[in-house]
Amino acid sequence: MSKTWFITGTSSGLGRELTEKLLARGDRVAATLRKTGALDHLLAQYGDRLWVEQLDVTDTRAVHEVVGRVFAQWGRIDVVVSNAGYAVFGAGEEADDDQIRHQIDTNLIGSIQVIRAALPHLRRQGGGRILQVSSEGGQTTYPNFSLYHATKWGIEGFVEAVAQEVAPFNIEFTLVEPGPAKTGFAGGLVTPPPMAVYDQTPAGDMRRALVDETFAILGDPVKMVREIMASVDRSPAPRRLALGSQAYDHIHAALTQRLDALEGQKSIALSTDVDS
Ligand SMILES: NC(=O)c1ccc[n+]([C@@H]2O[C@H](COP(=O)([O-])OP(=O)(O)OC[C@H]3O[C@@H](n4cnc5c(N)ncnc54)[C@H](OP(=O)(O)O)[C@@H]3O)[C@@H](O)[C@H]2O)c1
Repeated sequence: MSKTWFITGTSSGLGRELTEKLLARGDRVAATLRKTGALDHLLAQYGDRLWVEQLDVTDTRAVHEVVGRVFAQWGRIDVVVSNAGYAVFGAGEEADDDQIRHQIDTNLIGSIQVIRAALPHLRRQGGGRILQVSSEGGQTTYPNFSLYHATKWGIEGFVEAVAQEVAPFNIEFTLVEPGPAKTGFAGGLVTPPPMAVYDQTPAGDMRRALVDETFAILGDPVKMVREIMASVDRSPAPRRLALGSQAYDHIHAALTQRLDALEGQKSIALSTDVDS
């Protein structure tokens, strides 16, 4: 049966591919984006099954207003996709305060507000799905992506807790965790001026790998979107959806390392309870 979707960040990459594939199979999509006109060709093709609205997710008032309006107009949204995001690429101390704030405003606060705006409507309609596009970088880390990781680890924590709060209302979450994928993401990196002191460090190695294009980007956004769409038909909703061999390998290594480290300090943890 066809579904209704609300998606942020649909001008390019995963959001755009998802919008196109959903419309092609007969679903209805409320697509939001910053660049007006980017989906004009789809509007001409799909008419009233596509509702396009300008939305910068850093504008909290607009997020709540637009989400409210689409629920009012369409009556019901089955799936909310919080997808908009980008990365600041540089060592933690290279970014300036505005770059730090904008990174957090977009990926973390923007995502939180999209979810908060949708929840009362999803509760009222008796449930729904929320897909939060996180990243393998919501569970792993690369040098030079520290600020990005702060937002993706942050949104994973928010979703893990809110999912427990709203499960009684039949609202389910999936954290989508792509590995590096061939979208507009690399082209959209915001790069603060590099500090020479990092040249011969892992941060410098990472910068060179990206500039020299030796950093592997193996993820196919078309195949990722196929699996994102399929995930919505699974019940219960998968809490996480790792996409790409790099995501699988890196998350597996990170979790194994963390579990080993936890086991290694188990006796310390157990020794610090109050004496009964
Ligand atoms: N590609 C990867 O390697 C990768 C890996 C893991 C996770 N992800 C995540 O996947 C999601 C989609 O990224 P993508 O790979 O499809 O990259 P993309 O092609 O650059 O698409 C990102 C989208 O987010 C939008 N966006 C950025 N800031 C926004 C804001 N303040 N308000 C509204 N929209 C905004 C962009 O709009 P504009 O066109 O207006 O800039 C664009 O439509 C992001 O959350 C990203 O973190 C990507």
